[in-house]
Amino acid sequence: MKQSQIRNFSIIAHIDHGKSTLADRIMEETQTVSEREMSSQLLDSMAVEQEHGITVKSRTVRSYYTANNGETFEYNFIDTPGHVDFSYEVSKSLAASDGAILLVDATQGVQAQTVANYRLAKENNLKIIPVINKIDHPNADVEETKIQLMELADVDEDEMLLISAKTGIGVDLVLEAIKDRIPEPVGDIEAPLKALVFDSHFDAFKGIVAYIRVFDGEFKANNLLRFMQQTTDFQVVEAGIFKPDMVAVDSLHAGDVGYVITGLKDPQLVKIGDTLTSQNHPTPEALPGYKESESMVFAGFYPKDNNYKELKSAIQKLALNDSSFHYKEEKSDALGLGFRCGFLGMLHLSIIRERLEKEYQLGVLTTTPNVTYHVILKNGKEVIVDNPVQFPDFSEIDHVEEPFLDVHMTVPDEQVGDIMKLAEKRKGIFQDMAYNSGQTELNYALPSSEIAYDFFNQLKSLSHGYATMETQFKGYQTADVVKMDVLVNYATVDALGFVVHRQDAVEIGQKLVEQLKYAIPRKLFPMPVQAVVENKAIARANVPPLRKSATTGSDKKNAAKQDMLRRQSANKRLGSKAEMDLPQEVFNAILEVN
Ligand code: GTP
Repeated sequence: MKQSQIRNFSIIAHIDHGKSTLADRIMEETQTVSEREMSSQLLDSMAVEQEHGITVKSRTVRSYYTANNGETFEYNFIDTPGHVDFSYEVSKSLAASDGAILLVDATQGVQAQTVANYRLAKENNLKIIPVINKIDHPNADVEETKIQLMELADVDEDEMLLISAKTGIGVDLVLEAIKDRIPEPVGDIEAPLKALVFDSHFDAFKGIVAYIRVFDGEFKANNLLRFMQQTTDFQVVEAGIFKPDMVAVDSLHAGDVGYVITGLKDPQLVKIGDTLTSQNHPTPEALPGYKESESMVFAGFYPKDNNYKELKSAIQKLALNDSSFHYKEEKSDALGLGFRCGFLGMLHLSIIRERLEKEYQLGVLTTTPNVTYHVILKNGKEVIVDNPVQFPDFSEIDHVEEPFLDVHMTVPDEQVGDIMKLAEKRKGIFQDMAYNSGQTELNYALPSSEIAYDFFNQLKSLSHGYATMETQFKGYQTADVVKMDVLVNYATVDALGFVVHRQDAVEIGQKLVEQLKYAIPRKLFPMPVQAVVENKAIARANVPPLRKSATTGSDKKNAAKQDMLRRQSANKRLGSKAEMDLPQEVFNAILEVN
């Protein structure tokens, strides 16, 4: 199709504002899928997406739209996730688009991710179509939503489209507006091939499939192509489009969005953000690609069933499909070989773990999550710690800095007091507040470690679901934190160490040993569990023995026998640190007390 008849766009919005529903409606109205196939939401097809009811991955679809003037247009659109933990997916999609539909739920108005995604679209110089959704809903406040949208984006009232993605009202207007307002691609079909790899996945049979937006030139099956940054050469097995299933086509050219089956099997050969070009006539200049995402939360992933190789291969394949997921190999005394993994947030962490379980049938032991600390030593050197095992000895430390976030919350007036208490309990530093017709805007600076876990859930529950929260990285600030070591039978278990605020250490240590008493697998003899900070034991409990008596005979004899067993076990391990089976419950216990 001529470029003048192609439109490439993304659908962006805050979580649950109706992106996937609108995408389904567009596919229905353009007969991209049959009515029979329309029975359920088509695009959120991953098991984890259906379970959580959210979009985790962006999805690309090609539809053909016959406009009111009778002409047919090729629409390539990308349905993006709304949750902040998956915002990297949005930025990748926007770089492959020329325009964006900014969807706002009329029952909620402009929300944190509406603002964040609007800014991303602006940074990419995209034409934005503002659309107000859910106008059929009894709680819809269309007038207020219009005002908020006009404040956010530089748009006139008559540019906004009012729709119900659910009932279909107004969707025809959106389809026409896409053709009228989103600019056509402006590539040069005669120029050397230049295409952006904006996503990819690993197919067990076909190998690596790269998702691409072609900016210049064209290619077809059997062409010899190259990923420029990785200097990976291959011969095209198949070129195709998403309808939304993969369908082969003869060729892809400037302006098109589609896929290329590379035949490559090693996930490390392809990188999202790379430029695809031809081996014989390469484009002189690669596309700028993407900024690497910065991990906010880290945790160790270890194989549950001794299948390190399988876990490694699955992690590499998953990383190919999610470039905001980072990993490197690590070794723990207690757990053996595994990976230190970086995530954009806690939801991202759980989704990756679930995908390993569901898509690769792999059980994963996850260590307690942590943020990155900057440790400044007395000798002036700085150590970056993304794994508590690397935390330097306290005698060498001058001070520690931890990441802080600017947290902007909008809360109902009635709950302001409770929410301020929550923020202060989590070491929030009050910045300012403002009243705004029944709502209060609260600004705090909070350590990211205090928000990473369940701050948002508590905020939601205190406000009965009404509060919203927007965060932005503020920078590193000095924090009084210490490393807590956990000793079982007098040996440090490296994988159980974590970093806490000094003022909480005693309380957390005491709660922890009580929990570990039940979570640590029992032995024939009782074992002490200790929480130790700066060489001082701050809490202790005993893991009871496996059976009441390990031997027969008098109680006194038993005690002596158990003590001997315990000592033997401790001696055996001297120098080799604790080796023991650590079930997931042990790590969950740490997360629970934090
Ligand atoms: P994420 O991708 O997870 O961010 O969600 P989303 O933006 O794709 O939202 P989704 O399409 O999954 O819709 C969220 C909920 O809103 C679903 O229960 C939809 O049925 C409902 N919904 C979507 N559009 C409308 C609408 O126009 N009217 C009403 N009443 N409900 C709608």
